[in-house]
Amino acid sequence: MIREELLRIGQTELADTLVRVDPPTRRRLEAQLETLDLDRVGRLVADLVTTDPGHEELADLEPADVVPLGADDPAAIARGEELLREGRVAAVLVAGGQGTRLGFDGPKGAFPVGAVTGRTLFDHHAGRIAAMRERYACELPWYVMTSPQNDEATREIFRENDWFGLSPGSVRLFVQGELPAVDRRTGTILRETPDRIALSPDGHGGLFPALVREGVLDDMRSRGVSTFVTFNVDNPMLSVADPRLLGHHAQAGAEMSNVVVRKHDPRERVGVVAKRADRTVLVEYSDLPDDLARLREPDGGLVFWAGSIAAHAIEREFAERVGAEGGLPYHRALKAVPYVHESGETVTPDQPNAVKFEAFMFDALPMAERAVSVEADRREEFSPIKNAEGPDSPDTARRDLNRLYASWLRAAGVDIATDASGDPGVDIEVDPRFAIDAGDLRRRLPEGYAPTPGEPILLA
Ligand code: UD1
Repeated sequence: MIREELLRIGQTELADTLVRVDPPTRRRLEAQLETLDLDRVGRLVADLVTTDPGHEELADLEPADVVPLGADDPAAIARGEELLREGRVAAVLVAGGQGTRLGFDGPKGAFPVGAVTGRTLFDHHAGRIAAMRERYACELPWYVMTSPQNDEATREIFRENDWFGLSPGSVRLFVQGELPAVDRRTGTILRETPDRIALSPDGHGGLFPALVREGVLDDMRSRGVSTFVTFNVDNPMLSVADPRLLGHHAQAGAEMSNVVVRKHDPRERVGVVAKRADRTVLVEYSDLPDDLARLREPDGGLVFWAGSIAAHAIEREFAERVGAEGGLPYHRALKAVPYVHESGETVTPDQPNAVKFEAFMFDALPMAERAVSVEADRREEFSPIKNAEGPDSPDTARRDLNRLYASWLRAAGVDIATDASGDPGVDIEVDPRFAIDAGDLRRRLPEGYAPTPGEPILLA
């Protein structure tokens, strides 16, 4: 009986609610509660809400060892290309987030990123996957993680767009788990409406249990995939399944690797990749104390400069281990969550009243026997769309893509004027199916190509 289970884990208030409400409401609440691992919820409340979880020990943090830009062993890149050609690589997009900061209604992958056509993030990533498949004549299966909150809408988008030109069998959507939000003082599970528990995705660290539960790792194994890359939905600059990352990862015999860029300022909101007791760790921006964030080398550079762009290479067997061991630890996130008060009234708080539990994928890094960090050039690889305006917004992503595409055009010998910062002053959009780098563009551009001055440029 659900009510007894609730009492056993200390959820007396919700247990009492079940007795008070009318039978249909009770049945709906019970049906929802049955899908949850209530023992886990009980443990999370005990560990993270009703006792103070304290702070992570950061005293012995050291800068990470990073493969710097421009110092590549050509054999590493060749190794990555070989893995791709052999069909041993898959791509996993984590797209289960709620995108609240951007204020965009619907899955973030439906956000328009093409400056000329309004191409969406999903379409853009699909184009990159298609281009890599063609370049390396490989299957490169694509798995997209959704959440119960956006799964239906995401599937609809993929269906409506004919799987963005990819064969349906080569793309698979799977759903991550969810957990209830609880009152930050009492740990009581909140209801968002009288007959519905307030549930939200369990963080992108929910990837590991979801990969096991949803049969994705089995599917990868049956396709001969040994390594997969993961990436965020919000960064249109990323080279998905970059042979450099894959090659360094494979050469070092790493279990989980990641891509970093040089932070442009100490408080940039990216996680910092560092080292503790010889293991690679990632310290989230919100957990990095100001004095460490601002610490400088004698040459003026930041000591903790390596900002994570949340792009990883992961061994399938490592993911099997992490998933089987019950996944990753959870963090508490304080959020303002509307809830139904005991009196039956709905309260919309303007201050955080609730704790949500989230696991972070990068917490698997220190579990890896070996982990490699590879530096990328942020001008080529990183411009995420997170906020509606200001830094990391649609405007900055458009600006950075325009600069990048202008640099490709210039490298291809096209006469295109830019200002000192590399801005072409017009919007440029390159369909990833046409070119995913400067070399592609140079080969594919028609002889004598010259854009009309002042007009937007579309290369597709
Ligand atoms: C994240 C990283 C940060 C990194 C930055 C790079 C965290 C906590 N921090 O920041 O270290 O430097 O990206 O851009 O992740 N997602 C799910 N399910 C969830 C939650 C999120 O699939 O339950 C997906 C989102 O759809 C998105 C990605 O994970 O694709 C990143 O999530 P987001 O919340 O945007 O992370 P950030 O805080 O921006």
